[in-house]
Amino acid sequence: MAEIVAFSKEGNIGLIAVNNPPVNALSQAVRAGIKASIEKGNADKDVAAMIIICDGRTFIAGADIREFGKPPMEPHLPDVCHFIEDSPKPVIAAIHGTALGGGLEIPLSCHFRIALSSAKVGLPEVKLGLLPGAGGTQRLPRVAGVQAALEMITSGTPVAATKAKAMGILDEIVDGDLKAAALLFAKKVVDEKRPIRKVSSLEAKADSPTVFDDFAKSISRKSRGFIAPFKCIEAVKAATELPFPEGMKRERAIFTELQASDQSKAQRHVFFAEREVVRIPGLPDDQPTREIKSVGILGAGTMGGGIAMCFANAGIPVMLLDVKQEFIDKGMAVIKKNYANTVAKGSLKQEVMDKRLSLIQPTLAYEDLKNVDLVIEAVFEDMAIKKEVFTKLDAVCKPGAILASNTSYLNVDDIAAITNRPQDVMGMHFFSPANVMRLLENVRGAKTSPDVYATAMKVGKTIGKVPVLVGVCDGFVGNRMLAKRTRECGFMLEEGALPWQIDKVIYNFGFPMGPYAMGDMAGLDVGWRNRKAKYDSLTPREKANTILDKICEMGRFGQKTGSGFYKYDEKRNATPDPMIEELIIKHSQDAGIKRRVITDQEIIERAIYAMINEGAKILEEGIAARPLDIDVVWLYGYGFPIYLGGPMFYADTVGVKKVYDAILKYKDMVGAEYWTPSPLLEKLAKEGKGFYSK
Ligand code: 3HC
Ligand code: NAI
Repeated sequence: MAEIVAFSKEGNIGLIAVNNPPVNALSQAVRAGIKASIEKGNADKDVAAMIIICDGRTFIAGADIREFGKPPMEPHLPDVCHFIEDSPKPVIAAIHGTALGGGLEIPLSCHFRIALSSAKVGLPEVKLGLLPGAGGTQRLPRVAGVQAALEMITSGTPVAATKAKAMGILDEIVDGDLKAAALLFAKKVVDEKRPIRKVSSLEAKADSPTVFDDFAKSISRKSRGFIAPFKCIEAVKAATELPFPEGMKRERAIFTELQASDQSKAQRHVFFAEREVVRIPGLPDDQPTREIKSVGILGAGTMGGGIAMCFANAGIPVMLLDVKQEFIDKGMAVIKKNYANTVAKGSLKQEVMDKRLSLIQPTLAYEDLKNVDLVIEAVFEDMAIKKEVFTKLDAVCKPGAILASNTSYLNVDDIAAITNRPQDVMGMHFFSPANVMRLLENVRGAKTSPDVYATAMKVGKTIGKVPVLVGVCDGFVGNRMLAKRTRECGFMLEEGALPWQIDKVIYNFGFPMGPYAMGDMAGLDVGWRNRKAKYDSLTPREKANTILDKICEMGRFGQKTGSGFYKYDEKRNATPDPMIEELIIKHSQDAGIKRRVITDQEIIERAIYAMINEGAKILEEGIAARPLDIDVVWLYGYGFPIYLGGPMFYADTVGVKKVYDAILKYKDMVGAEYWTPSPLLEKLAKEGKGFYSK
């Protein structure tokens, strides 16, 4: 086996090669290996300079995140960085791929940095709820300036090599053979007797006294609820106020505090969950999949158009079918307008837009779908129409083509049963707007074959989605859980809360919007139609909760009609409407419900714990294979705050026992038919365990 860090010599240059696949993370062995190699180079009189270079697909991608939460092991990364910087012989970092986090802090401690033009460098720790903890917040402002460092560290976004050179982070950009270029560079350093440059001895100067407050204000909206970005600012500020060693101590103190925080734990959970979610329990890593080179989409409406864009964006040709030319024209016009808006914003080139549009071929003929590898149906949400469409698809599509439905609620197994190939049928549930939202719920039917759903997972990744595999049930994972939140919020309106109180609490919890503002935005008629369709299955109390009916009967469908739960001005700014308050109070009176004060805590518990309890049932039924699948659905489909890690992770943070106790309290208060704890949740609570700590 290759050494994790190998020291070798090329003439008078010491080569320190890191080989820790897959991404050369800075595990204890790598840290120790780099330190030992620097020692070796300095002890060898024939070595004049050293190069740190990496094998494999990338330079070091950062600290080993899997080591976080375990007892720290020496040598610590900041010490390794100091050790490199203190080397009396020059050390050069030679970067390819992505130098991220600790993987950039090491080069910043080297005396020179060169990179391939294709490389990127960044400090993405903030995305893990952390800050760069090995000198990044102290060294980066010293080389790149305070403003640039604030931007890079608080956004976590990597920058391309050319930009990094312009910012002063890199000394030279090269192409071709990195090792050869690094050796040449090292020879120059030695021959020219270039002096050792220590970033720590430079000065970090704030451009103005208000730069830090101004910057904090500028990110306050984007970073709402997150702790780490603001702590990053504090650490960069320390670089401008304190001598380097003191600044390092400050950085370390904040790093340690953040590392132990619930937010960082949640964000690290999200990092791994996002990667784990595509691995399907029971299927091997090399599970065969079908090749998807062309796609057919049925229905050029809201969803069909957005889905067509997703495939065109990934370079996959699409046949877009609707029943009438006017619907096709309307759908294509919306697609064009969406692309044109992106071009106008400067985020897309006109030629790229033209290329993408040319990949979407409108059609009225099913015959045109006979050669496609995958069909996604997005016609009206009506079982009779879906069955008619799938019968036609079954007749026309080639054997082996995958037939998927974007249905929100309908039973995928019933749709599959109408065809002669149920093994090729499944759900692919996109979220609106489909070209923007990252979540894709792939719904596996009872008879769907593994290579079919494995293909859907792969396709999801190809088109830039976060695909989650779920099973068949009413509303699948996301909408099924959402329905419980909607029900409880509706009950709380009857019992004493007002829409704006609930919205404020849910917004402050970290969602982008509260349920009533969201309903007004999506159109209340959508939920109303759904309620009518499900009316027979509702409980007596749900049937009697007619607040939504009353609002919709007045033609108040939300933003599009100028009023809904809120009233809207011409700029669509919402204000609470006294008329709705009266309507709700009267509704409670008529229903004989005595209104009381509903606390913000009760709103959180009833809205979120109702979802958690449903999530536990979803796990028991095997609709989702793991709690992480549920978390990913909520993070990417519904804007559950990343820093809480998703509903199931949040349950663990609160404590499942506490959630269980609250559920029992609401069982007494609201009724067993809504608040009976799921057996899984009950078991975990009684055993003192969590969804992730069984
Ligand atoms: N530690 C441990 N494992 C890591 C890792 C890390 N820093 N970065 C990636 N991995 C693992 C992934 O979990 C994945 O494992 P899996 O195959 O078992 O699922 C594998 O490496 C490959 O990762 P990706 O699937 O993400 O591969 P990509 O090629 O798509 O992306 C990457 C590569 C751009 C390097 C991406 O993995 C990434 O962004 N990694 C995280 C980088 C990061 O956040 N670094 C900062 C760490 S914190 C730090 O450095 C603290 C310091 O300041 C003290
Ligand atoms: P829509 O009404 O905007 O579009 C439906 C389109 O299908 C229309 O253009 C219509 O002409 C066309 N159509 C109807 N019958 C057809 C047929 N037999 N053959 C071909 N085309 C036909 O509807 P929307 O909102 O796009 O919904 C489509 C599907 O996606 C539904 O199943 C819905 O439940 C689901 N969905 C909707 C979401 C949303 O937020 N709008 C979110 C996720 C899923």
